[in-house]
Amino acid sequence: EVETEIHDFDFPFEGPFGSYDQMQLQRGLQIYTEICSACHGLEQVAYRNLADDGGVGWNMDEVRAYIDYQGAEVFDQSLFDGEGDFRAATPADRFPESGLSNAPDLSLMAKARAGFHGPYGTGISQFVNGMGGAEYIASILTGYHDEPECALEGEPMDGYYNVAFAAGGYPDSCIDDHGHHMVPGSWIAMAPPLYGDDVVFADGHASDLDHVAQDVSAFLMWTAEPKLVARKQAGLTGFIFLAVLSVLLYLTNKRLWAPHK
Ligand code: HEM
Repeated sequence: EVETEIHDFDFPFEGPFGSYDQMQLQRGLQIYTEICSACHGLEQVAYRNLADDGGVGWNMDEVRAYIDYQGAEVFDQSLFDGEGDFRAATPADRFPESGLSNAPDLSLMAKARAGFHGPYGTGISQFVNGMGGAEYIASILTGYHDEPECALEGEPMDGYYNVAFAAGGYPDSCIDDHGHHMVPGSWIAMAPPLYGDDVVFADGHASDLDHVAQDVSAFLMWTAEPKLVARKQAGLTGFIFLAVLSVLLYLTNKRLWAPHK
């Protein structure tokens, strides 16, 4: 198993009472729009979803203003007698797909990757810490380091050294005699997209690397699981309901059997 360094960030949507922080999702959307969307797509998300309850929290006017400001267009096959043409996007249309062919779509990325594994394939870490999809993304974004010593000895590597990324290339010169990786992570094709102070937030919120990495990861958690909060609330309601029912059934049982003791 390849070692990676995934940090356990504290996200507001964690735990049984967790929920999305609307302001954080708005900042994340801004980072996605200004930086990530240059290469990545978000093709499972419709513009109108930005006005859904429990998410970014915009109204439809804000959604339309966003589309206008982006000058967003979609290719509509029905135009020109089936020949198709571009037209202005509407709230019902989806975000563009990835513009760079080797950059994956990010809509479901926070559910497609796990930050926590093991130990030894038991998944106990996931039981305690959650799946860690958002942690994984934030760890990738903060996981760029100078190339380790061992890499400088061999052939130059394509890409960028990242301690949180497991799936990339790895130089032979960093593999020891027993076949073990000497340094965590691997080489990723994505150049570091964030350095800190990459965006300016309207409310003056901190934009150092740790903050922007967490904000955009929280936003991508929302795109991947927009109903997370509703799911948690339903679970909690069900739990309370069953707890109360258990007490009532216990008392009923006592009462029914009392005369026969
Ligand atoms: C891969 C996030 C900006 C190009 C990825 C992955 C994530 C990600 C989560 C997937 C890692 C995996 O497969 O496990 C982001 C975020 C960005 C951003 C949140 C904005 C803050 C960019 C930009 C570019 C880019 C601006 C292009 C200049 C790529 C490429 C890959 C990738 C080529 C594939 C890497 C590989 O498989 O080696 N990105 N990205 N990304 N991204 Fe980005």
